[in-house]
Amino acid sequence: MTSTPVKIALLGSTGSIGRSTLEVVEASRGALRIVALSAHRKTQLLLEQARAVRPRCIVVSDAEAAAKQNWSDLPPEVELSIGPEAVEKVAAESEVEIVVSAIVGSAGLRGTWAALEAGKTVALANKESLVVGGPLVTKLAKEKNARLLPVDSEHSAVFQALQAGRREEVKRVILTASGGPFRNHSRKQISQVTIEEALAHPTWAMGRKITIDSATMMNKALEMIEARWLFDLSANQISVMIHPQSIVHSMVEYMDGSVIAQLSVPDMKLPIQYALTWPHRCEGVAAKIDWSQAMSLTFEPPDFERMGALKLGLEVARVGGTAGAVLNGANEAAVAAFLDGRLKFDQIVPACESILHHHQFDSHPSLEQVIRLDRWARQEVFRCLT
Ligand SMILES: NC(=O)c1ccc[n+]([C@@H]2O[C@H](COP(=O)([O-])OP(=O)(O)OC[C@H]3O[C@@H](n4cnc5c(N)ncnc54)[C@H](OP(=O)(O)O)[C@@H]3O)[C@@H](O)[C@H]2O)c1
Repeated sequence: MTSTPVKIALLGSTGSIGRSTLEVVEASRGALRIVALSAHRKTQLLLEQARAVRPRCIVVSDAEAAAKQNWSDLPPEVELSIGPEAVEKVAAESEVEIVVSAIVGSAGLRGTWAALEAGKTVALANKESLVVGGPLVTKLAKEKNARLLPVDSEHSAVFQALQAGRREEVKRVILTASGGPFRNHSRKQISQVTIEEALAHPTWAMGRKITIDSATMMNKALEMIEARWLFDLSANQISVMIHPQSIVHSMVEYMDGSVIAQLSVPDMKLPIQYALTWPHRCEGVAAKIDWSQAMSLTFEPPDFERMGALKLGLEVARVGGTAGAVLNGANEAAVAAFLDGRLKFDQIVPACESILHHHQFDSHPSLEQVIRLDRWARQEVFRCLT
């Protein structure tokens, strides 16, 4: 890496990915430097991060939360900005080299878009940016000569494995999935799942929304769509295998039958670090596999009938257009309703399916159209609840 620090804007610094990113930056011994942080409502944590990291500016996207916080402890050299527009502004600042897009949900699209429009490299954790606006986002990146580097562990693994061959030699990518906590549950058991059970992921510690998505398998569906756009694959080049140990993060199968995989312990600090130091590798801050111990790695094909979300992921990866925005909007609203106790766990995926199949599909939507449909899909979920 170069001797001058790489300057980073971290969008979503108070979240699970945001906090792991700060650990990676701290361990980089000056090679990486945070120049901007953003949070939505966790203003006290943002203030603490600002005092520790001393960025040039911080953003609170929720004006009400910003107004409630006492900012007298904010170091005077740190500028405070408020509102979602301020997130877009910091993402496009001239001094910023890499934008870590780690806001959860389609709210993350604004920052991703602004960063790409300004020609920045985006370390993309916010998969929803690609699920909602896949063809528009990748087209913008191409036009602006901006780079999209994956942070999602599966996509980081595919990105690394793709370096073993030429694109035209790739047969397919195989995304691995832990299967979540209810992999072996019967339909009856799934119908009784509680919020606490759904929030207890067996191998990964993550934010609440993605944890529920992992339990419904919607996370894997969103990842199939993300992979379709990020790597310009066709839907039939994307497979999923259940791998409960979460050690093999994904694989690429080449035309000669060789399969290249990336392995590491389940810790997001590694894919975050790889995105921030690429094309170089540095001493890792994440824990390493202990090769002195015996271990078993198992793989099984998923049951698409039981895991209905995967069918939706495949369908949306195949048809593209407005389908991603509708599936994502419906899912975000359904997950929020489940976490509020207003929807049962086993109703999340059927609600998404029904809304997806009732929307007016357009194969070549504009950005405004996908944003409108995202809103419409959320309203449909709430309409069904009342
Ligand atoms: N966690 C993982 O291991 C993991 C792995 C792969 C991919 N990802 C992806 O990374 C993204 C972040 O996930 P996470 O688990 O880190 O989520 P999280 O822990 O819930 O954190 C979300 C972050 O987004 C901010 N935020 C929430 N709503 C917002 C809004 N409307 N506008 C602006 N900012 C908002 C939050 O701010 P406040 O906390 O201040 O409210 C927080 O900083 C998601 O797209 C997820 O799919 C996560």
